[in-house]
Amino acid sequence: MKARVEKVFRHLDPKPDALLVANSVDPHLDQTFFYLFSVPSGLFEGSVAIAHPDGKLDVLTSPLEAESAHQAAKRDAHVTVHEVGRGDETEKLVKKLVGSARALALNYREITHEWYSRFAQFLPEAKWSDASNAIRSARVTKDADEIALLRKAGEIGSAVGREIPSLLKSGMTELELAAEMEYRMNRLGAGGRSFSTIVAFGAHGAEPHYQPAATPLRSGDSIVCDFGAIYGRYASDITRSYHFGKRDEEMQRVHETVEKAQAAALAAVRPGVPGKEIHLAAQRVIDSSPWKGRLIHGVGHSIGLVVHDGWGYNSTVEDPLEEGMAITVEPGIYLPGHGGVRIEDDIVVTKNGFDFLTTAPRAYLEVPA
Ligand code: GLY
Ligand code: MN
Repeated sequence: MKARVEKVFRHLDPKPDALLVANSVDPHLDQTFFYLFSVPSGLFEGSVAIAHPDGKLDVLTSPLEAESAHQAAKRDAHVTVHEVGRGDETEKLVKKLVGSARALALNYREITHEWYSRFAQFLPEAKWSDASNAIRSARVTKDADEIALLRKAGEIGSAVGREIPSLLKSGMTELELAAEMEYRMNRLGAGGRSFSTIVAFGAHGAEPHYQPAATPLRSGDSIVCDFGAIYGRYASDITRSYHFGKRDEEMQRVHETVEKAQAAALAAVRPGVPGKEIHLAAQRVIDSSPWKGRLIHGVGHSIGLVVHDGWGYNSTVEDPLEEGMAITVEPGIYLPGHGGVRIEDDIVVTKNGFDFLTTAPRAYLEVPA
């Protein structure tokens, strides 16, 4: 997309003659390829995109995705698709398209060493530069098309979040609940999950990145569900915490404290506010409760073509929020051996504050066992 290519070039300093984005084999795909080339379907393993300062984009694709690539190029006059076969065809064509250009930029953060070695070998006179910070800066604020996709991804996650209480049954396992959630996201239009779904029962909720297992649900468990849908390549990320059967009073107060921490963080969101202020607003609420020190991660991150989209905010981040940033706000309290509560929503920063992209209820809920 011309506007996105130009946006990346605006952030590049010094300006290269071209930016080369190279995909390896899944999962080593640089999502910047799909940022620059808006194509809804296809893996594009081994594909290369060459972005030019005038907004034009050359896309080299294998026959596997050629149909999707040609269709997408029909909608974007600035894209030229080149179908390449196996062997050294890609290298020959990249060399031809680069021509006499010498100042070439790469996304050092994503390119594989194998690709870099190949480029260095067949473009021996190139002067390479690192485009990764410019790419991150461009991608971190979203355009209207991206926000529409993020909103839809958020709606799918929210719909499943609303359904979870009705899915809970004594004895079901974390894996069963995760499977049910993913199935429902797909039925609602998701192309997959944003990341490996987290379902944590009881004490497992104390570990933020716990992976579900065959643990059965028991009356008295707290439940942390952290999940997200991919829609049109864009991710959502939502966490809701529930309580199955009568939970002890501590967990109810923990839940209410996390809700307050999230509300405090959200109240601080507006363009120009240093990222750390959002984190500190949540941390102040938690640290003035009996669970001081139990927020054990940064309170959020940028979200987009990947769930962790290159920018996060913790107690040290000075970089300010900008209008159009899509971020998560996800405080939690974690009590080892006992359980945890996290509440996470996706928002987009607006001129005067923010809009929610996710909406499922957040309040303490005891689901009858
Ligand atoms: N949803 C997982 C995470 O943000 O780390
Ligand atoms: Mn998250």
